[in-house]
Amino acid sequence: MDLSRLVSARARAVDASRIRRVFELARTLKDPINLSIGQPDFPVPEPIRRAAIAAIERGDNGYTVTQGIEPLRQAITRRLGDELGWSIGSETGLLVTTGTSGALMLAALVLLDPGDDIIIPDPYFVMYPQLATLTGGKAVYCPTGPDFRLTASRVEPLITARTKAVVLCSPGNPTGVVCTQAECRDLLELCRSRGIMLISDEIYDEFVFSDARTEPWATRSEARACPSPAREPGASANVLLVRGFGKTYGLTGWRMGYAAGPHWLIEPMTRLQQFSYVNAPSIAQWGCVEAFGCDLSPIVAEYERRRDLVTRLLSPVTDVAVPGGAFYAYPRVPPALGLTGQQFIERCLQHNVLVIPGNAFSREDTHIRISFATDPTRLEQGVRIIADLMRG
Ligand SMILES: Cc1ncc(COP(=O)(O)O)c(C=O)c1O
Repeated sequence: MDLSRLVSARARAVDASRIRRVFELARTLKDPINLSIGQPDFPVPEPIRRAAIAAIERGDNGYTVTQGIEPLRQAITRRLGDELGWSIGSETGLLVTTGTSGALMLAALVLLDPGDDIIIPDPYFVMYPQLATLTGGKAVYCPTGPDFRLTASRVEPLITARTKAVVLCSPGNPTGVVCTQAECRDLLELCRSRGIMLISDEIYDEFVFSDARTEPWATRSEARACPSPAREPGASANVLLVRGFGKTYGLTGWRMGYAAGPHWLIEPMTRLQQFSYVNAPSIAQWGCVEAFGCDLSPIVAEYERRRDLVTRLLSPVTDVAVPGGAFYAYPRVPPALGLTGQQFIERCLQHNVLVIPGNAFSREDTHIRISFATDPTRLEQGVRIIADLMRG
């Protein structure tokens, strides 16, 4: 008997990621120029590695408390206090999660009942539509092109009585676009006035380039200064701040993230974590205690140089929103070519270059995503090939 009928409608509704399909296509290539990778190309900083190894050797391999080990909670609390003026305590809670994905999933489970709306940007990080699919909610797409900014004026017409939350992703995946502080403020004000949550996915918060940093903070010596709705006074009542360690410190496989926000939201997220993920990986938590002491500025500067290279090569041949952060660019396939993103990436594959089509991140298929988290020489080779193909 075919037991596959037992698979739920929920699971059937989740489509395989188009990114994986590109990887499958790519298996036929020998040593491709791979500009598809969504993780940093630098080693985990040594203090983090040492702390994780020490935790294993010490025997800190068992379950931890669901909310996360105290030394890590303290480190995050200090960071959120210093950077954003947040105070973790009775009104604002903190949960260490199994990746940023874990935080997003728990937030969706807590906020969305069947029939509820969650507004997400289009283009989006691949998980966002699934947050709705998996909870019975509805993803309401907010088109953000051609500049890829999720502005209050674009979001406002989409808010209904069913809307529970808006997801902001800045620096953005797949576009690299960074909101200004004024745009963050307007979006927060909108959510506040309509009584809905603003989920701010800031997994790329450390990767903000010099020209996209917040105006007042940019004069500080610290490299990090990611514009964020969380910087606004009293934001913690309306913002669920979601950040991660994976992209920032090159440890995506360790599955580490955290969420901070109003206690009424963090408390049920913690309860659900107890019966699902249980706790973020113990040894990874111990490693990440050392994370905030690591200086990423040379890496961010290197990514900024690569960003400059990519935009310099592509701007003459197509529209490309200048990435203010992360490590992606999202150029348009020139309409004169008459090709979809998918058709264009197949052409790139014929030239041994691997990139992701826009239809992995959007209901449109007009762009491609280029990751510059790769060796700069290969990056330049690959982007020159793409620029030539775009010239037609
Ligand atoms: C915008 C965004 N949010 C969340 C995630 C998920 O990150 P994690 O690996 O920490 O679950 C990613 C990963 O690519 C991402 O790009």
